[in-house]
Amino acid sequence: MKNTTSANFKHIGTKLLNWYKINARDLPFRQTKDPYKIWICEIVFQQTRINQGLNHYNNFIARFPDVKTLAEADEDEVLLYWKGLGYYSRAINIHKAAQQIMNDYHGIFPHEYEEILKLKGVGKYTAAAVSSICFNGKIPAVDGNFYRVLSRVFADDFDISNSRAFSYFSELAHLILPDNVGDFNQAMMDLGSEICKPKNPLCTECPLNDDCLAFSLNKISEFPVKTKKTKAEDLALKYYFVHRNGEFLIQQRKDDFIWKKLFEFPPEISDELIPFIKSVKTVSHKLTHKNLSIEIFNVEVDTEEIWQNFIAENNYIITDVEGSHEKSFPKPLENYIESYDTAYRIL
Ligand code: ADE
Repeated sequence: MKNTTSANFKHIGTKLLNWYKINARDLPFRQTKDPYKIWICEIVFQQTRINQGLNHYNNFIARFPDVKTLAEADEDEVLLYWKGLGYYSRAINIHKAAQQIMNDYHGIFPHEYEEILKLKGVGKYTAAAVSSICFNGKIPAVDGNFYRVLSRVFADDFDISNSRAFSYFSELAHLILPDNVGDFNQAMMDLGSEICKPKNPLCTECPLNDDCLAFSLNKISEFPVKTKKTKAEDLALKYYFVHRNGEFLIQQRKDDFIWKKLFEFPPEISDELIPFIKSVKTVSHKLTHKNLSIEIFNVEVDTEEIWQNFIAENNYIITDVEGSHEKSFPKPLENYIESYDTAYRIL
């Protein structure tokens, strides 16, 4: 840490809190200190924009208002309520964590950072957010917003792709940390998304512009420094949409790779079905660390006996468009189903 350790920077945290008192976004989860609700909101909004996820969050809380209700629910129903948010392993993990709270903590959400961190799917950011917002914990919830704001305020070129970035910026955050860490953490989230944005930040409106070294040097665009790009891997997938008279076949994925526990079409077919392939559609889809290229074959089986043979030889579930709405599919497969029209053709 460069030249920063001896100076006092606490006034920066205070300025941020004063700004937050007036400018805090009015969000439903800001009316509560219920750790269950704060935890769910942190998981939902970790990779999802507030506008995109707010309805999902409200519906989720309405259906699963507390730890017990969530723990006792079927995993499939939890996944259904997660539909549209993506990153389904988050839903699987919160369901498991709710059961963990029932079994290991008598149904009472743990209060201590170290205990919260033991919950399935909860990392340092989430544990810090919940403990500070709900239990007056004193740990900064360091995420990309912290990296951006702090690297700019201190014109600090520490590489955020370095594996030590998290502990480095956590230490830097402590230099400006006020007493009310819960509000401070949320103020950083709001400042990062509304003012100190990755592109075109609104520096003239920023409460920290007097203290921002990058701003005074006119070097905002140089921070944060990131040298390594996380390279997405290319992956090709094949699916067969095997259908007859409006019914089609699906199976549930395992929880060991992408799209954990979601439903999919058969990834292979028997030789007998090959003559029924009518068309193929290729779609591209991006996941965080993968660029997918998905070929979906339209297999229109017009012989009852062959349809029955294929069903008998495999363990697929038979469904139709309406039935598929009760299950969660990866987005590209969901789109494909939507293109299956009432005349049972792929558009
Ligand atoms: N994103 C994730 N958690 C948030 C929170 N508590 N407030 C605002 N944005 C968020």
